[in-house]
Amino acid sequence: MILPIYLLGTDVLREIALDVEKDSPEIQQLIDDMIETMHAAKGIGLAAPQIGRTERLFVVDVSPMEEDFVEAGMELPGQPMVFLNAEIVDESEDDSEFEEGCLSIPDIHEVVVRPEALTLRYLDRSFTPREERFEGMLARVIQHEYDHVDGVLFIDHLSSFKRRLLKRRLQDIREGRTEADYNVFAKDKGVIKP
Ligand code: NI
Repeated sequence: MILPIYLLGTDVLREIALDVEKDSPEIQQLIDDMIETMHAAKGIGLAAPQIGRTERLFVVDVSPMEEDFVEAGMELPGQPMVFLNAEIVDESEDDSEFEEGCLSIPDIHEVVVRPEALTLRYLDRSFTPREERFEGMLARVIQHEYDHVDGVLFIDHLSSFKRRLLKRRLQDIREGRTEADYNVFAKDKGVIKP
């Protein structure tokens, strides 16, 4: 089921999400719904708070960027990927810059500096514990989604100067005025269709 995506301004985006204790049909359904919602909105990542939930769960599908992986001589793991109860155990000292966007903050794209690589401990969708090193585009998307389950948004990483420049546009989004071509949920307006 495709779910509306919660916009900047909704409280749930600022909550710290909670570990998922055990596998259940409900969790598997939630994962399927999140993947479907991400694909429908043409996103490459989606975290549970973005659909109004408080589980430490996010999904990633960078397959639209497969060519970049091939060019970089990197192997793209099977997509989509599911991350439950993720924990960053190590981050590289080297940083990289990349322009990010977010389905909860439509039409805003800004350069964010983040560690180039990280090691992540997590459960996959079959609740198998994994520890893996990610770099490049996957590391970037994973860090963005990981932030979401900690109540952090990419705009929090921008300078206060940059945020001031965006103030008006961010306020529009908080009030539900967006050009998003997918269903969104705004704090005071509820579900808004495109
Ligand atoms: Ni996001």
